[in-house]
Amino acid sequence: MAALFHGEGSSSSELSQGQAHLYKHMLSCMSSMSLKCAVQLGIPDIINNNGQGQGQPITLPELVSALQLPPSKTGFVHRLMRLLVHSGFFTSKKVICQNEEEEEEEEEAYGLTPSSRLLLTKGNNEVPSLSPYVLAVLDPAFVNPSHFLGSWFQQKDAAASTTTPFQLAHEGTSLYEYWGKNTEFGAIFDEGMASDAGLLKVVIKDFKPVFEGLTSLVDVGGGNGAFCKILIEAFPHLKCSVLELSHVVADLPNTENLKFIEGDMFQAIPQADAILLKSLLRGCSDEESLTILKKCREAIPSNGGKVVIIEIVIDNTKDEHELLEAKLFFDLLIMVILPGKERSQKEWEKLILKAGFTRYKITPLFGLKSLIEVFP
Ligand SMILES: C[S@@+](CC[C@H](N)C(=O)[O-])C[C@H]1O[C@@H](n2cnc3c(N)ncnc32)[C@H](O)[C@@H]1O
Repeated sequence: MAALFHGEGSSSSELSQGQAHLYKHMLSCMSSMSLKCAVQLGIPDIINNNGQGQGQPITLPELVSALQLPPSKTGFVHRLMRLLVHSGFFTSKKVICQNEEEEEEEEEAYGLTPSSRLLLTKGNNEVPSLSPYVLAVLDPAFVNPSHFLGSWFQQKDAAASTTTPFQLAHEGTSLYEYWGKNTEFGAIFDEGMASDAGLLKVVIKDFKPVFEGLTSLVDVGGGNGAFCKILIEAFPHLKCSVLELSHVVADLPNTENLKFIEGDMFQAIPQADAILLKSLLRGCSDEESLTILKKCREAIPSNGGKVVIIEIVIDNTKDEHELLEAKLFFDLLIMVILPGKERSQKEWEKLILKAGFTRYKITPLFGLKSLIEVFP
């Protein structure tokens, strides 16, 4: 087909595809928001409970009835479900049902997919729910600062190099300050982080060689201790401590194997056989990460000690398309909310060696995350 615009070489079919691609990405926030809506309405649980808890596909009228929506809203449900089926959160198939007049008619019936199974809140003890994480990441306090990305890039004043888009959106308040001041957001964020950590329960037993020789471990920035509890369940000999900001741990009770320590990771890190840094350095600049890693180096024994980092490792050449896209989305989210970044293997290596460690080993852990063992 002839070029539509002289010299630009795009046929009308290429332009048409280009427009579809552009509009898809322009509107992909609708994908995020329909996912959030499904979580808010509890649709995955409703489907899972259908057919005496057997997770039988649910017809549209059954779903509408279980949702208990006002009559004015019931006619909209199939449109929400159509998008969520398209984006892979639910399956859809035609089933034959009897209507009120006892005539047979075809109905759409929806089932769960591996992604929506991760959102179940009840009856799924083996795999903890990621619903709280979806609600935390899609909270307006996180989403609104993205609107400031353009002005943040153009910012020229003295504070430009240390400010994040999050701060531009929240009157100069950093994420961790905001979290400390807003108890409602703090609770959503704590629960979200704990739910993301909870998923590692599925795989942690496979990592016995990483943890079995250790007797003590400090989880720096370990939130409400969700991950330490998983570690203790899998490795009961382990004595864990969580080093955290006071507003996160002030009211949390210590147990025999789990102690909460109020403190600042930039000042001091308690001594232990191992220091755990999970989803922590991604939020820190390279300078901040170096400070923390050097303190970790001082806190562990030169012989037998280690730092365990659980983070994303970006591999542009090997990560398959969807995995890489999710990692790049996280990187932009971090750029919006914190001074850190998601790192490639090369970037991790540079930090680790610069902090005075001699070697490291990266093992894929689960989903987007890898486990990096770092040795003195
Ligand atoms: C992104 S969250 C990660 C939480 C947890 N490690 C996880 O993976 O779920 C970062 C944590 O670091 C904590 N934090 C931030 N600044 C800190 C500091 N200066 N000292 C100790 N903890 C800090 C925050 O309170 C927060 O819980």
